[in-house]
Amino acid sequence: MLEFILLSLLALFLIVWIWIDFIQFLAEGKEEEKEEETPSSQSDIEVSTTGITKTDGPVAVTGASGYIGSRVVEDLMQQGYEVHACVRDKSNGKKVDHLLNLNGQGLEGSVQLFEADLLDPGSYDQAFSSCAGVIHAGAALGFNRETPQEVYDGCFTQNEHVVESVKKAGTVKRFVFTSSFAAVGHPREEGYVFTEKDWCGDNVEGYRGAWTEENISKNRDIAYAMAKANTEKMIYKAAEEDGSFEAVSINPLHVVGPLMTENHNQFFSWQFFIGQLLKGEDFGYINGKQLRGSTMLWNMVDVRDVARAHRLGTESPNARNGSRYILSATDRSGEMFTWELQAKLKELFPEIENIGGEEMEEGQPKEKTYDSPRSYCSLAIEELGLSTYSIEDTLKGTGDSYRALDLL
Ligand SMILES: NC(=O)c1ccc[n+]([C@@H]2O[C@H](COP(=O)([O-])OP(=O)(O)OC[C@H]3O[C@@H](n4cnc5c(N)ncnc54)[C@H](OP(=O)(O)O)[C@@H]3O)[C@@H](O)[C@H]2O)c1
Repeated sequence: MLEFILLSLLALFLIVWIWIDFIQFLAEGKEEEKEEETPSSQSDIEVSTTGITKTDGPVAVTGASGYIGSRVVEDLMQQGYEVHACVRDKSNGKKVDHLLNLNGQGLEGSVQLFEADLLDPGSYDQAFSSCAGVIHAGAALGFNRETPQEVYDGCFTQNEHVVESVKKAGTVKRFVFTSSFAAVGHPREEGYVFTEKDWCGDNVEGYRGAWTEENISKNRDIAYAMAKANTEKMIYKAAEEDGSFEAVSINPLHVVGPLMTENHNQFFSWQFFIGQLLKGEDFGYINGKQLRGSTMLWNMVDVRDVARAHRLGTESPNARNGSRYILSATDRSGEMFTWELQAKLKELFPEIENIGGEEMEEGQPKEKTYDSPRSYCSLAIEELGLSTYSIEDTLKGTGDSYRALDLL
């Protein structure tokens, strides 16, 4: 009997001990969970204070002579920033005069030119020194000039030089990279709406085996998309490891809108193609060769909105390391098949007799166009507070600038 009582007491003790241990285990687990939560929520608070203002220091812009970069410089100056504009050749008036002229336009901010080349390590050190923000809009684009490998290197390999200079400066809090919708889009069914959660490498089967590193040197589109996606991943990681700055990406789709200088009429750019339509180049042919854009779904965004989104990406407390923002049509009004774009241009420029477009048959397009890419810049509106131009203002502004620059 005594044995039975002792055994029962031992069993009870063991049960209670195991139970206490279990409760402790749960409590420790919760504690650990809490400990994991605390630093990350604290760092969230830190992160949300790192957006910059004009009093934090200058903002450097790479690719400042370009179509997007120039508008970024203009927007920053309108907001009172001191801008370090990085160009390849300060003495090339065709590429820099429009930037220097901004200094004489009574804007609150100012611009200073710095020479730098993506291909040279350390090239951006001087321009980024003391800067609070860097907007990296420069890239070797390959509008039929560079080889696919050069496009990849100019968009990805050489970006490490830029990131190294950001780190060296030690003052940069936000690094905004001009990525592309190319880093988002991938083969999908018609009408699919792409968002920032999409990556170009998704649905690899859709590329029929073409989506490989080996094909970078063979195909410009693969080189470009891979370069943009790989750069995004590289900069978010670099920023996380460095800890002193955050990296944000802007992913534009078909950028159109007023040109600031003749040099912005780059062959094979979207704005160039609008110019072609306004010149009456039917079905998108040039020298007998069919151009891209002759039959496609245009998903358009104004270059001035793209520029503003870059600046907001440096300022917004809502943006954080790894944030990416698609810059595309605001709504369906900015998405048009080429024949619809032609009709819209006819409405906006009634005085132009012959406006190009796609081949029609009895008032309908002769060929059916694949209904893609659909995407909207809703996240940039919601998180960055971006407001956008109407598609009519954008297209009218584009055409008017072609006329003002005597390019039609
Ligand atoms: N336009 C679009 O529809 C679109 C859409 C999505 C993404 N993007 C991206 O937006 C960015 C700007 O495009 P954009 O349309 O403004 O093109 P852009 O007008 O051709 O501008 C490209 C800029 O990059 C500079 N650049 C080229 N090679 C360089 C090098 N080796 N070193 C330093 N700078 C170099 C150019 O300088 P130079 O004047 O000296 O040549 C120019 O300022 C690019 O990253 C592009 O991928 C554009």
